[in-house]
Formats: sequence, structure tokens, C-alpha cells
Amino acid sequence: MVEDSLSPAVITDGLATRFIGQEVSCYPSLPSTNDVARRRAKAGAKEGTVIVAEEQTAGRGRIKRRWLSPRGSIALSIILYPPLEYLPSLIMVASLAVAGSIEQVTNLKAQIKWPNDVLVNDKKICGILVESDVRGNKVDYAVIGIGINVNLEVSEYPEIAPIATSLSQELGSDVPRLKIVQSLLAQAEKLYLALSAGDSVFEQWRDRLATLGKEVQVSSGEAVHKGIAESVAPDGSLLLRQPDGSLLKIVAGDVTLRR
Ligand code: BTN
Repeated sequence: MVEDSLSPAVITDGLATRFIGQEVSCYPSLPSTNDVARRRAKAGAKEGTVIVAEEQTAGRGRIKRRWLSPRGSIALSIILYPPLEYLPSLIMVASLAVAGSIEQVTNLKAQIKWPNDVLVNDKKICGILVESDVRGNKVDYAVIGIGINVNLEVSEYPEIAPIATSLSQELGSDVPRLKIVQSLLAQAEKLYLALSAGDSVFEQWRDRLATLGKEVQVSSGEAVHKGIAESVAPDGSLLLRQPDGSLLKIVAGDVTLRR
């Protein structure tokens, strides 16, 4: 087992960012880092503040799903105050930063599955939940919640075992979580600053999507759509070519590959 404690001092030490991760709070256990981050954002926390938990007891995923984050995983949330037009790009910033950090630290190849999963060897290794409060056309705050399966044996969790994996499982040895966290925070800031410089992260995100060109089934609310995942739009929507030739724009949903 590699020495792997996460504390504000070790995370911030040597982190060459301007604001993301310059203020960090670490907790042994929390219901959800996103809940604490939202409370802290409402109370005016500094932009870039990061909330980390060694484990979550009520981790949340998209569509009110449960997110398992036992010890050995990474659960963190980043507080941002972006302009409204950045909101659709935050998921792109987060998934690119996670995929980049996995590749930088482990050399494993990471792909993004629309809209917000990161995969290694076709299995889910990370989930991202962006939550925001918007009033009129002003974003009060946005929280990017990131959960990564790092050092855990996924087979011990039957509900996720068939579709999920972890970095330690793919590599056959434990991975220093600190390195992943630092790399991910640095890359998230670089991508976020690229947005403020007017650069789009959309093309990079699109090019990493595992989904494009494939036959897929997309569940979106009650509806299930089948077709070819043809492309994505700059607002993050999926463009699905349906069997009747029409192009359907899907804003949110779950994709399954049809082999
Ligand atoms: C998903 O795949 O549906 C998204 C999962 C997001 C999990 C992360 S872990 C840190 C943060 N806190 C939460 O309760 N959820 C997010």
C-alpha cells in the first residue's frame, strides 16, 4: 500500500495553480462532498475551494442515483463562480481533467463516455456531477463533484462490478491518489482558464468521446432512442442519427453501446 493520505497541506504543496485547490478542506467521512461545497459556496467560499472526503456515506450520482465512494477512492468537489455561458462546458472541463490526470499519472488510456463518465478499458472509472444555482441569468455558484475509483476492488461491490473498474484493478498495483488529485486540479484550472480566454474545450472533449460513430441506445427520462451517435453540439448535447434518417438532439441521458 503506497502512503496516500490526503490533507490540505499535501494537496496544496507544490500545486502550481492560481486558485483551484489553493483552499482545501479534507474530511475523513462526509455524506456528500457536493453538499458541503454547496453550503460553503452559499456562504461565499473562495473560488476554487476544494472539498475532499476519504469516504462518502450518501454520495450522489446523476438522476438521483447512489454513488459508492468507499476509502481508497477519490471524492471531491470544486467550487466555481462561472458566468452563465460557461455552465455547459464545466462537464467538459471536468471529464477532460480527469482523463488527462489518469493518463499522466498511470499511462492508462482514458476515454469519455457521453455525457460525463470517464472509462478505462470500456469500464466506468469516474463519475462527475455538476450542480449549480442560477438566478435569472446569473450563476450564484457551480460545484463540480468528481468521484474516481482509485484503490479499490470493484468485485467487492456487486451493484457496480459488471460495469465499473478501478485504477488499481487495471494496473495491478495501488496508485497514489495525491498525484491524481494534484494533476486533476491543475488540468481543471488550465481548461477553465482557457474558457475565460475565449478558447473552447469542446473540440478536445469531442475528440475523446468513446461514443461517437457507434450504434447506441440512449435512455432520456422515460424515452429510449436508438441510432448512431453521430456527433455532439458545443452545448454538450448528443446528436443521434435515428433509423428514419432524422437527427435527434439529446440534452441529457444514458448511453449504452449496442454491439
Ligand atoms: C454519476 O456518475 O452519476 C456522477 C457521480 C458523481 C460522484 C461525485 S463523488 C464527489 C461528489 N459528491 C457526490 O455526492 N457526488 C459527486
